[in-house]
Amino acid sequence: MSKNLHVAIVGATGAVGVEMIKTLEKRNFPVGKLTLLASARSVGKTLSFRGSEVPITELKEDSFAGVDVALFSAGGGISKQYAPHAVQAGAVVVDNSSAFRMDPDVPLVVPEINAADIKKSRGIIANPNCTTAITLMALYPLHQEFRVKRIFASSYQAVSGTGAQAIEELRAQVHAVTAGQPVEKKVYPHQIAFNVLPHVDSFLETGYTKEEMKMQNEGRRIMHHPTFKASVTCVRVPVYRAHSVAVNAEFERPVSLKDAREVLSQAPGLELVDDPAKAEYPLPLYVAEQDDCQVGRLRLDCALDNGLAFWVAGDQLLKGAALNAVQIAELI
Ligand code: A2P
Repeated sequence: MSKNLHVAIVGATGAVGVEMIKTLEKRNFPVGKLTLLASARSVGKTLSFRGSEVPITELKEDSFAGVDVALFSAGGGISKQYAPHAVQAGAVVVDNSSAFRMDPDVPLVVPEINAADIKKSRGIIANPNCTTAITLMALYPLHQEFRVKRIFASSYQAVSGTGAQAIEELRAQVHAVTAGQPVEKKVYPHQIAFNVLPHVDSFLETGYTKEEMKMQNEGRRIMHHPTFKASVTCVRVPVYRAHSVAVNAEFERPVSLKDAREVLSQAPGLELVDDPAKAEYPLPLYVAEQDDCQVGRLRLDCALDNGLAFWVAGDQLLKGAALNAVQIAELI
C-alpha cells in the first residue's frame, strides 16, 4: 500500500463514526484522502478532520473507487450490502457491525489478542462486539496464565452503544423527569433515565439475547478457544459512555491473586485500578474517552473452583469500536 492512504468511513456521522475520525487524527494514521459517507440525510453537512471541513457524501455502491481502507459502522444491513462493493473496488474493509463476525472466512480481531489472524483476511476484517472486546482485554491475559473454562458475567452498558439517538433520548428523559414533564420513548422500549433495562439486542428462543451470546461465540473465535463457555446478562444503564462488566471466571489451573495482579498489570491496553481501601476501582465516568480499559475489584471467587471475580470497564466507542478498528487498519 502507498504511504498515504485513501480512507473511507461509512457511517461517519454516527456515534462510532465520529470517534473513528478523531482516532485517525489522534493516532496520526497516514491518511492521504478521507471520504466520509452516510445517508442522504447527512449530505450538505461537514465534519472536521485535521483542521479542515470534510463534506459528507451519500453512500452508494460506487463510493469506493480508489479507497484503500474502508471503516464501516452504519449497522449490519449496510455492511452486508456495501462491504462487498468496497472489497471489489480494492479496499480492505474493517467492519464494526455483527454482519461478518461469525463468518469463518472473516478474521475477528482484537489486536492485543489475535493480531496474526489479520493475515488470513480476504478483504474484510471484523471488529468484535464492544462488551466482548472490553471483557477479553482482561480475560485473555488471565486465560494465558490460568486457562479459562467458563465465565458468568453481567454487563452495565452505556447508551452510546446504541447510537447517537440513544444519547439524545437519555439526555431528553433526564431533563423531562427533573422538570416534572412526561417522558418520551423512541429508542428503548422503556424509560432509560433513572432505570436499568435487562435487555440489550433481540431475544433468542433460549431466553438469552443475541448480545449476551456474542461473548461466548466471539470469545471462542478471538481466543482460539472452542470450548469456552459464557453465561451473560446484558443490562443497559443510564450512562452516556463506557461499558462495565462484572465477571466471575473459572479456570483450569489454580489462581492466586498475586499472579492475577501481575498478569493484569502487564497486559497491553489495560490498566489495573484496584485499591478498594481508597475507593479506587474502574468507573465508566473516568474510563470514558480513554484508550486503555481498566480492571479492578479483583478477588478469589468464593463460589467457583479456581475462580476469580473482577470488574472491567472500557470506552466502548474506542476500544469496543473506533480504536480497535483503527488499530486493525494500522496492522494492515
Ligand atoms: P446518517 O447520520 O446520515 O443517518 P448511529 O449508530 O450513531 O445511529 O449512526 C449510524 C450511522 O449510520 C450514521 O452515520 C448514519 O448516517 C449511517 N446510516 C444509517 N443508515 C444509512 C444508510 N441507509 N446509508 C448510509 N449511511 C447510513
